[in-house]
Amino acid sequence: MPIDGERSGARALAAGCAEILYGDTLADIAGLLDPGVRAVIVQPVTLPHWHDELRTAVESGRFVVERRQWQARRPEALVHLLEQDLPHDGLGFETRLALIDDLALLGDALARLADCRGLLLRLFTERPTRHCGFHVDTVGPDLPPVGLLRVYNGAATNFVRNADVADGVSFMRYFKRREALVRQHAASVEPATVDALCELDAAPDFIVRGRAVEQVPAGAIVAFRHIDVTRVNNADAVLQAWIHSSPMEGARRLVANLSPLDGPRRSRQH
Ligand SMILES: [Fe+2]
Repeated sequence: MPIDGERSGARALAAGCAEILYGDTLADIAGLLDPGVRAVIVQPVTLPHWHDELRTAVESGRFVVERRQWQARRPEALVHLLEQDLPHDGLGFETRLALIDDLALLGDALARLADCRGLLLRLFTERPTRHCGFHVDTVGPDLPPVGLLRVYNGAATNFVRNADVADGVSFMRYFKRREALVRQHAASVEPATVDALCELDAAPDFIVRGRAVEQVPAGAIVAFRHIDVTRVNNADAVLQAWIHSSPMEGARRLVANLSPLDGPRRSRQH
């Protein structure tokens, strides 16, 4: 499947470590079918021209998508939903269509990867905040635990290789402590709470000493392993998913998340 700016022909996946794979075509996300792989990062060689207009429109606040989601009962429906509902303001006609086509391609790719028909697309334009630290994404019970992320502009997503995580219990302890601080911060903005959050974010104590947080390359697509929501408190299960974090500051970004709405087609009766 072609993506913007890809090299001709698929390069073999370069695996710096088996749990994170790098590819340069959307077809490479099939690497996620290996249960040991937590994420496949697909990095276009060059980003097409329309990304420049999109970045400017998002960062300037001319193109705004309030947090919203679309449920497509089949992948082909996604393009029609977006043609109807994606805001027109702030984007040129061709750029809006290019964005819709790009999202539709991501939907097709996820449907193939997850062997699903229904798709959930979540899209928003927002400035990064300190709300969302290291976490794993969830899917509903018994749904394929995979999804796609594309951040079209701005600061990149951070991630930690599971080989660099001390253990699942340490991660859960960190996650719950941070969640408590975020709730505290939402209830009342106290400088001490902000300081505590900044301290946690500056030195996540679940990471093995000396190991680094890594970043997704700009404009890349990430196919990554999620966790069944019923297992989200299971420290061993959490380590089967991709541990990642949004950036904490920077310009307004356009972020797309796609996940399955149903299970493998072969198990359905129709
Ligand atoms: Fe996430």
